[in-house]
This record gives sequence, C-alpha cells and structure tokens, in this order.
Amino acid sequence: MFRFFAVALTFVCLLLGSQISAAPTNEIVARQIGNLQCNVDRLSIVAGLAKTQKTLKGLTASDDATASSVQSVIDSISGAQGAIGVIGKALFTGATAPADARTQVQGNLTAAAGALSAISSTDATTAAGLKQALSELAGAATAGEGVVANCK
Ligand SMILES: *[C@@H]1O[C@H](CO)[C@@H](O)[C@H](O)[C@H]1NC(C)=O
Repeated sequence: MFRFFAVALTFVCLLLGSQISAAPTNEIVARQIGNLQCNVDRLSIVAGLAKTQKTLKGLTASDDATASSVQSVIDSISGAQGAIGVIGKALFTGATAPADARTQVQGNLTAAAGALSAISSTDATTAAGLKQALSELAGAATAGEGVVANCK
C-alpha cells in the first residue's frame, strides 16, 4: 500500500517535472501518466482507501459483534487495493494496465460499499465508526469516478 502511494507520488513529481521542462520525451511521459487532476484523483483513491481500512481495522478490534462483517468489507477493499496496485505498476512501467484490473477495482468497491452499508450497530462508538468508514469509502469512490473522468 505504502509502496503504491510512493509510486503514485512519483507520478505527480514526474508530471510536474515534465511541465517545467517541455522536452518531447517528457511530453510523452506526461501523456502516459495523465494530467494533474487525474493524478490527484489517483492519490485520493489510494489515500481514501487506506484511511477507510484503518477505520475498519479499528472497528474489528473494538467490536466483536460486527467484526466478521467488517472483516469482509476489509477483504473487498484489499481486493480493490490489489487491483489498483496492478494498474499502478503497469502505469509506472509504461505498460497498458490490464482491463480486468479496473473491473476488479470497481467490483470490489461496490461489494465493499454494499456490505458496509448493511452493517449496523446499537453501540454508539461502533455506529459512529461505521458511519465514518462509509463516508471515507464514499470519498474514495468519488476519487475513483474522477480517475475514470480525468485519466484518459
Ligand atoms: C477483487 O479484486 C481481486 C484482485 O485484487 C479479484 O481477484 C476479484 O475478482 C475482485 N472481486 C470483484 C467482486 O471484482
């Protein structure tokens, strides 16, 4: 996860570098790695999912009643993170990202959101944590939409 974050950050640095010196090679690199908003969206989805996972892991540790349901959400998000890693690696090496990786990101995020919104708790702290995780996941999903819209 952290490694991908570092890779994603490198995208932005590469991009900024390419805007400063507009050599033809850099233009090719810039086209390959996308525009700035695209990269901001990529960073946001990565950061948003990491934040959601942290919140969910805290919930599994603090509430036994919802722990196994919450764990299945964690597993789906891990699946999405794995697929994002595949896309990130492909972008970084200049290869075409495998088409099913994007489907896997979307499929896992949809599964995670569905499972998470189905969990409820009468415990106030757990309920608040679930609500926070939902909002963090929604933020990551919005960034995902941004990736689709801005990364061409
Ligand atoms: C979730 O992602 C994994 C790869 O990380 C993939 O094998 C699996 O099919 C994905 N699940 C869905 C529902 O898309």
